[in-house]
Amino acid sequence: MRSRDSFARRFIAGETIDEAIEASRSIQAQRLQLTLDYLGESVRTVEEADAATREYARLLDVIVASGIERNISLKLTQLGAGIDRATCVDNLRRILEPAGRHGFFVRIDMENSPWTQLTLDIFETLWQQDYRNVGLALQAALYRTEQDVRRMNELGARVRLVKGAYKEPKAVAYQRKTDVDAAFLRLMKQLLDSGNYPAIATHDPAMIDATRSHAGQEGIGKDRFEFQMLYGIRRDLQGTLAAEGYGMRLYIPFGREWFPYFMRRLGERPANLGFVMRGILREQ
Ligand code: FDA
Repeated sequence: MRSRDSFARRFIAGETIDEAIEASRSIQAQRLQLTLDYLGESVRTVEEADAATREYARLLDVIVASGIERNISLKLTQLGAGIDRATCVDNLRRILEPAGRHGFFVRIDMENSPWTQLTLDIFETLWQQDYRNVGLALQAALYRTEQDVRRMNELGARVRLVKGAYKEPKAVAYQRKTDVDAAFLRLMKQLLDSGNYPAIATHDPAMIDATRSHAGQEGIGKDRFEFQMLYGIRRDLQGTLAAEGYGMRLYIPFGREWFPYFMRRLGERPANLGFVMRGILREQ
């Protein structure tokens, strides 16, 4: 990010922890909740995975000192899942330990489908070792997710339900938006009815309306689930839901490795390309 008004700024809170904390304070002032994500993924060496782990440990300290809400999100390929499982489990434990001591909740993001099973396995390994300050994201686009939701509900683990941000082959995932949306609605009900404080993470008004009506019909209180959205997307809707008394958490990404995250956001909405082009033209 070259300048403060760079176009990536719409989706990324900044490159440094201090910038992320500043963005977090302004989000909290709007009565929104947050989860901070130190951007990074697909690291290739033990040293890089170790550096990311240390940076997360530092983030925990800075968050505690700053007094903002104690909630972080992370990706397992950032902690070495692509190097070997043991390295990744060790690194995740190095974060979950201090996070647990300081009352943090840690959410594991879900990456593309080659990582799904490993992510669930690592999650469950740590869950069985009594780390309970941790939950994960599951993607409605994948056929397997109904069964994964059932397992998480059995464990009593907290799930963030998302549509899925990655292009997946049809052997493993629905290809049409209508099918992904239908799956999202089925999974939302499964989570609201039998899950532990699920997070319904979407900007789609149809998904949000269906969640509110299902909760209303089934007498599921606003304190039993929350909505989540990404920093910079549908700010209007974020404010409306919070004003209606729903838990509304923003995912706040920051860090120098923002490019893959930014590209996924562009890919989700063709209109964003126009937004980027206008930004580029302004910078010339
Ligand atoms: P959909 O794509 O149908 O969009 C609905 C509406 O939202 C659009 O019409 C537009 O108004 C707005 N919108 C959506 N995306 C936008 C964008 N990029 N720019 C501007 N407007 C946009 N995925 C994943 O695979 N693993 C994960 O761990 C996570 N984690 C995660 C956390 C949180 C808090 C959220 C909200 C999302 C994720 N995602 C994710 C991303 C998710 O899978 C999905 O790609 C995006 O949320 C877009 O899907 P929607 O549900 O918003 O619906």
